[in-house]
Amino acid sequence: MANEEMREYWNADGSMSWVRAADRYDAQLTPFVDDIIGAAAPAVGDAVIDIGCGTGALSRAAAGVVGPGGSVAGLDISAPFLEEARRRSAAVAQVRFAECDAQTADLAPYAAAVAISRFGVMFFDDPVAAFANIARGVVAGGRLAFACWRPAFENEWITVPMGAVVGVLGMPDLPGPGAPGPFQMGDADFVRATLQASGWADIEITPVDHQVGIGGSLDLDAAVAFLVDDGIGRRMLDGKPEDLQVQARQALREALSPHATPEGVILGAAAWLVAATRPA
Ligand SMILES: C[S@@+](CC[C@H](N)C(=O)[O-])C[C@H]1O[C@@H](n2cnc3c(N)ncnc32)[C@H](O)[C@@H]1O
Repeated sequence: MANEEMREYWNADGSMSWVRAADRYDAQLTPFVDDIIGAAAPAVGDAVIDIGCGTGALSRAAAGVVGPGGSVAGLDISAPFLEEARRRSAAVAQVRFAECDAQTADLAPYAAAVAISRFGVMFFDDPVAAFANIARGVVAGGRLAFACWRPAFENEWITVPMGAVVGVLGMPDLPGPGAPGPFQMGDADFVRATLQASGWADIEITPVDHQVGIGGSLDLDAAVAFLVDDGIGRRMLDGKPEDLQVQARQALREALSPHATPEGVILGAAAWLVAATRPA
């Protein structure tokens, strides 16, 4: 079955800490919501699909734009994320959620004017097949707009904490270029080639940079605890000897300390804002 490894990850380790701390992830990623909605430009009354919707923050933002006469379908491969998304969206009548793999599910019935995603399109085994399938969920002339991370080395939110922890624990196994993972779409040429091969046109790839608060506006110790509990942090620390875990936490705290401000621990976040059109 397609995307088996990611299905397993996002239904277990990957979603547990995220669902627990959804407000914190949302606070950290909020600056990208306006970028995506701005690029997608949904109109009042439009049908929208949100790919890899997680706990649904972007779906709810889109619902506010399309209004009660429109509709937003949040699609995700993870049952725990969707349960939380439904809980958080109970008061928004025009939002619904469906558990499916965006690479393989039949999306045609959604007939969306716009497909959007906030960091939910970097986990496909076969990105060309996935984006071709997403196009089937969008009407001719409809739009695609998403944010995906630029390469890891451009993103302080990963280099600063990971650099500290790697110094103690050594390099973890990382996905190779183009493999499913947060930085799968980091190379703009890869993004363009993928979208061209999957039938999208008018492709625009724009760098966007934000200074983000780790977990929102957490103080230094809370930011360390948040990162250690994150899926990436857990993958690096879990199972390691206790003394090394303590050293890794100390190294993490020292590395974050210069970035601690009264508004939180602030690090750079670098994404591509990608927009395209489904040809008529
Ligand atoms: C980094 S999280 C982002 C969640 C959400 N968009 C947000 O910004 O809070 C990635 C999301 O993509 C979902 N995902 C991964 N592979 C998927 C697939 N093949 N089809 C649908 N959703 C997928 C995961 O379950 C997860 O919710």
